[in-house]
Amino acid sequence: MPPAFDIDRARRDTRGCEGVIHFNNAGASLPPAPVADAHYEYLHAEEMHGGYETMARYSDALANFYSLAARLLNCATSEIAFSDSATRAWNAAFYALDLQPGDRILAGCSEYGSNLVALLHLAHKRGVEITWVPDDEHGQTDVKSLERLVDSRVRLICLTHIPSGGGLVNPAAAVGRVAKAADIPYLLDACQSLGQMPVDVQQIGCDMLCGTGRKFLRGPRGTGFLYIRKSFLEQLEPSQLNHHAAELISTGAYRLREDARRFECWERSCAGQVALGVAIDYALGWGLQAINQRIGLLSAELRRRLADANGVTVADRGIEQSGIVTLFAEQVPAESLQKQLMSRGINTSLVPFSANPVSAAKRNLPALLRASLHYYNSHQEIDKFITELEQVISKTVVS
Ligand SMILES: Cc1ncc(COP(=O)(O)O)c(C=O)c1O
Repeated sequence: MPPAFDIDRARRDTRGCEGVIHFNNAGASLPPAPVADAHYEYLHAEEMHGGYETMARYSDALANFYSLAARLLNCATSEIAFSDSATRAWNAAFYALDLQPGDRILAGCSEYGSNLVALLHLAHKRGVEITWVPDDEHGQTDVKSLERLVDSRVRLICLTHIPSGGGLVNPAAAVGRVAKAADIPYLLDACQSLGQMPVDVQQIGCDMLCGTGRKFLRGPRGTGFLYIRKSFLEQLEPSQLNHHAAELISTGAYRLREDARRFECWERSCAGQVALGVAIDYALGWGLQAINQRIGLLSAELRRRLADANGVTVADRGIEQSGIVTLFAEQVPAESLQKQLMSRGINTSLVPFSANPVSAAKRNLPALLRASLHYYNSHQEIDKFITELEQVISKTVVS
């Protein structure tokens, strides 16, 4: 039996729990106290000592971010670049690929909307072709179809590990095996999976991966990172260079950095980088397996309770499910549910069309409400959520 999860400590460490039921962890989690404190302390040090001076004082903590991110992903420190968002990290890798007219990209139907915009951009600009790998009957990327779609023109496979608008987990490692067998670069968007479950780049076999700080990792906003496999780095040319990404040797020459930090700029939120390191350390302290088990327990309970609630449909699919629970009420629009729950102290969010547009267009569902749970959420909060949701629905339907 796994040891019991210390929920009291998790909630004590999460000061925001005192004032709100936060079921919007897929948007941005409540940061735990050690993360928030590290962030505030760094900003205070900048106020008192100056930005550059503080950077020098915190050089170990800043460097430690790379080691911690590497531990989280099971890779080398030199394979990590700090970024201000997952979008920027994904774009940095994507636009560095040497894609030519007629090259094909195989993408999962749950690809995040921003990635879709970038894919369409290169389709229009360079004439690359995008092929959507169909979902299987459970809504997950169908690995057998992917295998069939591979041919000599395919130059990239991209996948969103956990779609932001649905409860499933895509088979990232099985996709990695197909990519490896065919020797095709593999770009994984792990924005919603990092901090929610173990994500091991060796086991998954991706060559590039992006993540964000503020979601299930519980780091600050405006932080993220990029992983690039060392053996793949030379196949990528950053679409933009600067004097941090490349060393200026003379007025006529530069030398590109030999690590993934060739995708960085020098200027960044140092407070954010230090606090993201603390957030990763904090998540590793709980253990990603333990976190995942706890989220699985809570989200299964929420889905069960919602299935019993009157007039509510759970929209999630997938064999393996995540902490992201999506639902709709037949008689009350999601926007109204979200607003009314918020006025009762419960944070949820709407699923915008841009969350996973290709699969959303195929499913043709009404607007969805998203309740995304983290390990610090409690059974009592689920009780309260169900009670309030049922009240909101019955009140709205009557009036
Ligand atoms: C699956 C997925 N990928 C990428 C992103 C973009 O992350 P960021 O806002 O850090 O750029 C999100 C944000 O919601 C997401 O859910």
